[in-house]
Formats: sequence, C-alpha cells, structure tokens
Amino acid sequence: MSESKPQVNPPLWLLAELTYRCPLQCPYCSNPIDFAKQEKELTTEQWIEVFRQARELGSVQLGFSGGEPLVRKDLPELIKAAHDMGFYTNLITSGIGLTEKKLTAFSDAGLDHIQISFQASDETLNAALAGSQKAFQQKLEMAKAVKAQGYPMVLNFVLHRHNIDQLDRIIELCIELEADDVELATCQFYGWAHLNREGLLPTREQIARAEATVQVYRERMAASGNLANLLFVTPDYYEERPKGCMGGWGAIFLSVTPEGDALPCHSARQLPVKFPSVLEHSLEHIWYDSFGFNRYRGYDWMPEPCRSCPEKEKDYGGCRCQAYMLTGNADNADPVCSKSPHHGKILAAREEANCTTMKIDQLTFRNRANSQLIFKV
Ligand code: FES
Repeated sequence: MSESKPQVNPPLWLLAELTYRCPLQCPYCSNPIDFAKQEKELTTEQWIEVFRQARELGSVQLGFSGGEPLVRKDLPELIKAAHDMGFYTNLITSGIGLTEKKLTAFSDAGLDHIQISFQASDETLNAALAGSQKAFQQKLEMAKAVKAQGYPMVLNFVLHRHNIDQLDRIIELCIELEADDVELATCQFYGWAHLNREGLLPTREQIARAEATVQVYRERMAASGNLANLLFVTPDYYEERPKGCMGGWGAIFLSVTPEGDALPCHSARQLPVKFPSVLEHSLEHIWYDSFGFNRYRGYDWMPEPCRSCPEKEKDYGGCRCQAYMLTGNADNADPVCSKSPHHGKILAAREEANCTTMKIDQLTFRNRANSQLIFKV
C-alpha cells in the first residue's frame, strides 16, 4: 500500500482559549473536565507572539474564547495586537463581566465581531443552567449595548432537552434584541456535555419540532423583511453519517489552550496523542511537522470501514474525539456512522434520551470543585 503525503494548507482559523476561568457553570461546556489541573495561562507577550507566528503562517481569523475571555485584563491589548496584524477578530463571550466601557475599549482596539451566548429565553431557566442568578439581565443589557455600538451581533443558544421546547420564545427574544445572526446549536457532546449527555440529549421528536419551528420563523421573518440568519445545528447523534469534524484534522483550524498547548480541535487534549506546546516549538513546526498535527491527516491512517469508503473525502471518518470517547480508540470510524461496528453506542444514546427522567439539578455543573472532585486534583 503506497503512503501518500497529504497536502497541508495554512491554519486559516486560530482559536485562542485565553483562560479556563469562567463565572458561569454551564453543564454543557466543551472545556476539558480536568480543567482545574491547568492553572497556568500564557502571558500577554506570549499570546501576541502566538498571533504573530499564526499570521505569518497565513491565519486570517482569530477567535478569543475560554472559559470566559473577559476575565483577562489584557483583552483590549490582545485585540489591538491581533487587529494591527490584520486578523479578523471575534470575541466569543457569555457577556458576564462586559461593560459599556469595555465595549468601547474593544471597539477602539479594532474588534470586528462579538458573539454572546445565552442559556435560555427566560431568567429562571437561564439561572438554573448557568448557575448564576444575575446572568440573564446582564446578558440582555450587554446584547443591547453591543448592538448600540454598531457591532454585527451573533446570539448563540446552546440547545438541549431542557430548553429546546422553548425555541419559539428564544427566537422571539433574538428578534427583540435585533440579532444579525442567530446560532441555535444543539449541544455537541464533548467535555462536560459528554459527561452530562444523558440529561442533555434531546429526543428525536424534540429535534423535529424544533426544525419545524425554525422553518416557521424563517418564513415569517423573511416576509417581514428581517434578514437575520437563523442557523440551526442538529446533534450528530441523530445522523447516519458523521460530520467532517474541523473541516479535517489539521486542515484549517488551530486551537491554543490557556497554558499553550496547540491542538487541532478544542477536545483533542483528551486523546492519547502528544501535542506540542507553543512554549517549546514554533507554530510552523507545530502545524507542518509535529506528530500530533500529522496523526490523522490524509487517509492512510484509516482502518476499515473508512479506508475503502467512497465518502471518506467528505467526512474524513468523522470526529476523532468522538471515536475515542465512544469506542476507546481514536482510529475507529466515528460511531455516528451507520457503517461503524460501534454505531450501537449512538442507538443506545438515542434510546436513553427517550427514557431518561434526569432533571437540570441532577446534571454535573462545570466548576472547579467538580473538576477537582472528578480528577482528585
Ligand atoms: Fe476533536 Fe472532532 S472534536 S476531532
């Protein structure tokens, strides 16, 4: 069998996970469950050096995320440095800790885009999911302030079995707040969301109702001249073919964790693969030459059924992290695929969603105490 070296293009999208600190405790957070082990964060200078190297490699878009990136006091400085290098910059935030003064500072620094996430369309459910009583009002105020400052505003709602039936009210809230784009993203099961999957995965019927609601609102909004885009992302647990995760391993996406590990996706640190640190290697070496970034590039690593599958160039065998979490081996086909011998794991999860009675207060909330408890840090 001939081994062909895949062509490697630049990492167009850099995600800077500035910190794992966060004032909220969402049980569907995709951060690693053992985040409490990670105390260190790159300094301002180290982050700026990462941006410089990424830009030199050809990165064009830079997302600031976390945790909650607003807890970094140097955020305006980081935004300005990225903006001056020519990045399109995007702040992904819960809105907690945002003020009009900070918004002005971000605008002066050249921030291009803000995405605010909500947990629900009403205060009570939002508080129960976020683990914070004040979060909802703060988010409303900040969404209005973002709009008033003239930013294109994306509102993001993570949907799951406890809020998806309120989708009509969620969309009404987005219309009221004059969102330019709305992401209605059903929970993807990584990190804390995977830990809480039984209590989060909606049923197929809930998904079908939500799809119908989105369609009604798309038509209604178009008829009234509202051009906001409603993006509805269904969970891959109800698909028969896997998603082409990250657009392919090490193809366009490069994430850097708070302490400086470079990853080809936000969840890869859990894999039994050694990933390099930006403190020890250049991004050029990391992207083109490191073992971790080359581990699942191309097709030669694939076992069956992916290896001979005509769809492998479309889905790349699916998500390596999901394959690892569900089968214990990241080389396997993503069990979402109905051709996978492990597809029964997905069928069992669907069945579990039909039977579970798990309530919100039975979920494991994403906080330092729980992280320490689970991993005995
Ligand atoms: Fe890691 Fe899909 S999230 S490959």
